[in-house]
Amino acid sequence: MSQAPIGAFDSGVGGLSVVLAIRQLLPGEDLVYLADSAHCPYGDKPLEEIRELAFKAAEFLLERGSKLIVVACNTASAAALADLRSRYPVPFVGMVPAVKPATLSTASRRVGVLATRATIQAELFADLLSQFAEGVEVYPQACPGLVELVEAGRTDLAHSEQLLRRYVEPLLEKGIDRLVLGCTHYPFLRASIESIVGPAVSVIDSGAAIARQVQRVLESRGALSNRGAVGVLRLHTSGDRELFKRTVRALLDGRETFYELADS
Ligand code: DGL
Repeated sequence: MSQAPIGAFDSGVGGLSVVLAIRQLLPGEDLVYLADSAHCPYGDKPLEEIRELAFKAAEFLLERGSKLIVVACNTASAAALADLRSRYPVPFVGMVPAVKPATLSTASRRVGVLATRATIQAELFADLLSQFAEGVEVYPQACPGLVELVEAGRTDLAHSEQLLRRYVEPLLEKGIDRLVLGCTHYPFLRASIESIVGPAVSVIDSGAAIARQVQRVLESRGALSNRGAVGVLRLHTSGDRELFKRTVRALLDGRETFYELADS
């Protein structure tokens, strides 16, 4: 069991931002990743449809022997995490936008959240606000188009500035000093986002926290890998393999060389 892979999925390449954090903390683990690129983006779909796609993705990863599944997608977590947990016999680690660390650390008492429409509309997000946002103004902003930019590997400022300014500038005018990246695609835009918001706004994502949670869950089950060598990261896509390959190369350039692209 301990040598079995950790599974992870997202609507596309976004979840790789979480995978990178897991690789950093737990380098000895094998990982199998599914980019459900054929159905990307999830964020504009009805929750019921996202739930069905999440079931299919989980089954794909279970067929490949996953000992734990990371729902490396805020949208799929909001739509399906509870159902995934009750339906399948492995532990699931899901994502919520990092509202808690942002509201705990803000000095201006104003926090922006960039996420997909589905995440913002889901009950889980309302729960998060009622639990952690007392006395803090939280401004959620849906960001259609950003996921598509990342899927095309166009994360540099030249390609993303116009759209990012449209979403971020109204939040800056509100006086935010924390900006939560509530979609796993957005960390790939971090450099561009930081150059727009400037040093007075801290940009926060959930990758490292999720990696620590994966470690805790595996540890508590005695299921951490005891292999000394670096594990294998195997990537699958349900969409166009060539496009996926190009985007992965662009996004992981210099950050992760130890991966292989599966045939199907
Ligand atoms: N990366 C996903 C998330 O964290 C969703 C992107 C999408 O497909 O809309 O929400």
